[in-house]
Amino acid sequence: MSYAELRRKIKAYYTDSVNNEWRRLTTGAISSLEFNTTMRFLNDYLPKKGIILDAGSGPGRYAFTLAEYGYKIMLFDYTPANLAFAKRKIKRAGMQKSIIGAVEGSLVDLSAFQSNHFDAVMCLGGPLSHVVGRKQRQQAAKEIIRVAKRGAPIFVSVMNKMSAMVGFVRMFRNELAAPYFENYLKNGDYPGGYGFTAYHGFEPKELQDLFAKQGAKVLATTALEGYGSYSEKDLSKLRRNKKLWKIWLSVHNRTITHPSSIGISQHIMVVCRKV
Ligand SMILES: C[S@@+](CC[C@H](N)C(=O)[O-])C[C@H]1O[C@@H](n2cnc3c(N)ncnc32)[C@H](O)[C@@H]1O
Repeated sequence: MSYAELRRKIKAYYTDSVNNEWRRLTTGAISSLEFNTTMRFLNDYLPKKGIILDAGSGPGRYAFTLAEYGYKIMLFDYTPANLAFAKRKIKRAGMQKSIIGAVEGSLVDLSAFQSNHFDAVMCLGGPLSHVVGRKQRQQAAKEIIRVAKRGAPIFVSVMNKMSAMVGFVRMFRNELAAPYFENYLKNGDYPGGYGFTAYHGFEPKELQDLFAKQGAKVLATTALEGYGSYSEKDLSKLRRNKKLWKIWLSVHNRTITHPSSIGISQHIMVVCRKV
């Protein structure tokens, strides 16, 4: 399948899932780990105030949360339906002064924005995984770094290639025999069509190297769901027991940068600094 066809597939998928994407991070137990862990790192590394580019914002769950904290946010996404949804919400909430724009485009071309402009850039929940060509991912990393101010933090979370093996055992067993499987195992490229759209699964070092080679300093690498990955039912059960859930969250927070937690996590994130 050509690059253009894959891009069309990705846009069609996200056009059909705007409401799900809006709800995604605040409903399921696994996604709540992704959201809360990401927020923890944002809180740790963001400057106290400033303008943040939310590159691959989707409908804007992180943007609306950070706007409440006083940041100004620029939305950017490949799928117009996401931006239309966000614009309606911004208007309804009267947040035009906090969420200052919504620009359509691809990460490979951030020419809508000047160099050294943003106090932070975030690319969360896998937009870079949906850049399905290796050269294009290099270009996207270069662009993300270009638009950040010197010293600004950059947060990038992606789908984790090898953690999907746990998914293949627990949930997607039939796909072990699918034509794409060997290719995925080799290079992390999933063509879409089995319940999800096309993406590239990253190895942790691959993600670190991508940004380091473009001149950013990698400050931290973390799991987002860690050992809770691919265990929605068990994790939900655990969440219903307040005492045990509190203990689990503490364990989660203390283990998310352990290599085994990073290895098994559905999403992984790097925090970098533009030097
Ligand atoms: C799983 S959603 C994540 C949305 C949001 N950041 C979050 O964490 O909820 C992935 C988003 O990436 C966007 N996307 C896919 N390819 C993109 C590209 N090349 N450039 C910018 N955004 C892209 C999709 O439209 C979708 O909104």
